[in-house]
Amino acid sequence: MPKQIRLNAFDMNCVGHIQHGMWTHPRDRSVNYNTLEYWQNLARVAERGLFDGIFLADIVGVYDVYKDSPAPSIVNAAQIPVNDPMLLVPAMAAVTTHLGFGVTANLTYEPPYLFARRASTLDHLTNGRFGWNIVTGYLDSAARGMGLPVQHDHDFRYDLADEYMEVVYKLWEGSWEDGAVLRDKQNGVFADPAKVHRVTHEGKHFKLDAIHLSEPSPQRTPVLYQAGSSPRGREFAATHAEAVFINGPDARAIREIVADIRRRTAARGRNPADMVILLSRTAVVGRTRKEAQEKYEEYHRHASVEAALAHFASSSGIDLSRYELDEPIRYEQTRAMNSAVDAVTRQAAEPWTLRRLIAQMGLGSRVAPIIGSAEEVADALIQLVEDTDIDGYNLSRTVTPESLEDFVDLVVPVLQERGAFKRRYESGPLRQKLFGAPRLPDTHPAALYRRGAGARRQTAAQ
Ligand SMILES: Cc1cc2nc3c(=O)[nH]c(=O)nc-3n(C[C@H](O)[C@H](O)[C@H](O)COP(=O)(O)O)c2cc1C
Repeated sequence: MPKQIRLNAFDMNCVGHIQHGMWTHPRDRSVNYNTLEYWQNLARVAERGLFDGIFLADIVGVYDVYKDSPAPSIVNAAQIPVNDPMLLVPAMAAVTTHLGFGVTANLTYEPPYLFARRASTLDHLTNGRFGWNIVTGYLDSAARGMGLPVQHDHDFRYDLADEYMEVVYKLWEGSWEDGAVLRDKQNGVFADPAKVHRVTHEGKHFKLDAIHLSEPSPQRTPVLYQAGSSPRGREFAATHAEAVFINGPDARAIREIVADIRRRTAARGRNPADMVILLSRTAVVGRTRKEAQEKYEEYHRHASVEAALAHFASSSGIDLSRYELDEPIRYEQTRAMNSAVDAVTRQAAEPWTLRRLIAQMGLGSRVAPIIGSAEEVADALIQLVEDTDIDGYNLSRTVTPESLEDFVDLVVPVLQERGAFKRRYESGPLRQKLFGAPRLPDTHPAALYRRGAGARRQTAAQ
């Protein structure tokens, strides 16, 4: 019996997400990203395909490293304009029942006290289907927007992130006890103040002395996704994440990242098999291989290499416009995504050049598409899971919404026939569907902040 594959529709509240240039295709609808109908339609299609969730990337800042200017990104709508992904969740939840929502939020710029309430609110409104993709960011433009000259150093962002998690765990897990809320209209008691606690935190980066503003939501702590594959990023993931989102050029590199993340998770006393690892991929599917190839050729004519280079230049922090076509890309210590720099320099089997990067950007991104008939795409996805021990995919769109519709109508039935994908949703909140229980296990650090659990950790209670 093959491993049950996890699937998220990977998207972003903007026009150009990963496959840049596709918005110019006549059947593409991404220019409607700023309407509710657009997202509600996507959510319905994803739930029809029994997808685990819609996973929304997000950036605060713009891609302005390439050619030292935001112009290439603005012309091609490469993740600018970009609207707030959190605000899409209630609308999508209103037209679905089981679909989860993994939403990226950059904790470097969000005060934990307020972010904790927003997350709890979304977990309430979705009846426990909310997940948070924890990122530390990679853009100096974001820092300048927040009043800083440049972004914090790479590893410092993760140190800050570790403490941030402590603060939100205290709020989500340690402020309101189970049973605190009574809703007792007869006696006029909404909640028992003896079971609602001020939590305090005196740390290097954060101070807090407050009661969590929200009553406990179905999952309390949202499902914790994380994206960031540098050694420091993997340490952070092994400590906090329940699901990790990775990139990877080939099976060898992916297998190494997966094995390393599971090893680090086990080293922290957590069950490595519990860690869901999702790979970034995209697919072009046809009823036949010929139809898929023709579709690919058609999409390829719309690909924007300029936007793809702007995206990768900001992800890596390297202005690729400084390079000649066949000049090997050199390793640079940048404040951006270290994993992105390493992938094309220190961890690359052979040197990357601009020519090689552009050759890979057939659909306007560094993610090489899987092209084929439904059977071929299904087999390729199953094979990669077996070869690398990943658990599933964040599937990014090409021409939308047809790329998701094609996958749901053509590939999902084949994956089900192969016994590699569910035929119905489990009941309960997102964490229950993914891991079998709505609350974080006792082996997770957040559990230490639960009332009565953390003898080692003091929570000041009035
Ligand atoms: C697969 C993947 C997806 C990511 N998605 C986002 C994102 O949507 N928004 C964002 O600000 N950062 C994103 N990041 C980057 C994270 O912010 C990360 O914390 C930071 O760049 C450091 O990455 P590193 O640990 O890989 O060096 C992503 C990283 C990876 C590997």
